[in-house]
Amino acid sequence: MENKNNMNERRISPQAARMQEILDDEKRVRERMAKVKHKIIVMSGKGGVGKSTVAANLAVAMSKLGSRVGILDSDIHGPSIPKIMGVEGLRPSGGPTGIYPILSGYGVRVISIDLFLENTEDPVIWRGPLKMSAIRQFLSDVDWGELDYLFIDLPPGTGDEPLSVMQLLPNMDGAVIVTAPSDLSKHVVKKAINMSIKMNIPVIGIIENMSGFVCPNCGEKYDLLGSGVGKEMAEEMNVRFLGQIPIDPEISKNSDKGVSFLIEDPNRESSKIFMGIAQKIKNIVENKNDSGK
Ligand SMILES: Nc1ncnc2c1ncn2[C@@H]1O[C@H](COP(=O)(O)OP(=O)(O)OP(=O)(O)O)[C@@H](O)[C@H]1O
Ligand SMILES: [Mg+2]
Repeated sequence: MENKNNMNERRISPQAARMQEILDDEKRVRERMAKVKHKIIVMSGKGGVGKSTVAANLAVAMSKLGSRVGILDSDIHGPSIPKIMGVEGLRPSGGPTGIYPILSGYGVRVISIDLFLENTEDPVIWRGPLKMSAIRQFLSDVDWGELDYLFIDLPPGTGDEPLSVMQLLPNMDGAVIVTAPSDLSKHVVKKAINMSIKMNIPVIGIIENMSGFVCPNCGEKYDLLGSGVGKEMAEEMNVRFLGQIPIDPEISKNSDKGVSFLIEDPNRESSKIFMGIAQKIKNIVENKNDSGK
């Protein structure tokens, strides 16, 4: 009898229990994600090139195109999606089916670690395994409901968070790669493309952000950081080029205020460019045999 108890105790060791928990979570991720038609990560090897700005506004653009959209901020150390989406300081509620994302004013459902912090200025000081566990929970415990698109904003680099998302998300449609128009950016962003390829994640295409600045007074275009790098990289890496987004003070002003320029000023050149890129992505992922570059 005693021996039998000992064996039972051994069978549910903390490691085994933890492993079972992880397997259960992963099963729930698959069930949740089965309700999401298209899953797209937005990444770049490089920091500060506008990944979060692009991810948030693509989500708004896709919602404007009539899709049901969610955005997951997987940047644990520098989450910025709640601020850009104007939902900073709100707290997700929970119910019998899980945690409910915050519904932004643009109809986009939002989840970020920032929405769970006591104080949004508190830093999250976590190592890899904890970050992986947080991302697994976002994907398994959040009840996104039925979605047409889930955008996942990744932090810079090719470390823990991109790896976790790539490993956990089943049937991902692919990665949208954001670059700035500089050679330095090109050098680093190629690593993100190669990571996607190594992980068998299709590259949907490259966006060149901060591409030129049109002077509001004289109308002349200045290539402040350069121009053409995105297209060059797309040709070199044999992937699609999705478009160039200019430096537009309204983009950063509105992001800071949590207001989307796509809604405020739909006739603005940057708004039209974003809508065009969102439509291109929609065509690509909803018509997977389109291999046009
Ligand atoms: N096209 C643009 N025109 C003007 N400002 C922009 C543009 N794209 C991004 N920005 C601004 O650049 C800054 C960095 O953008 P963002 O936070 O989106 O970059 P990121 O790549 O997500 O950064 P990180 O690597 O820290 O995650 C922000 O202040 C944002 O408002
Ligand atoms: Mg970011």
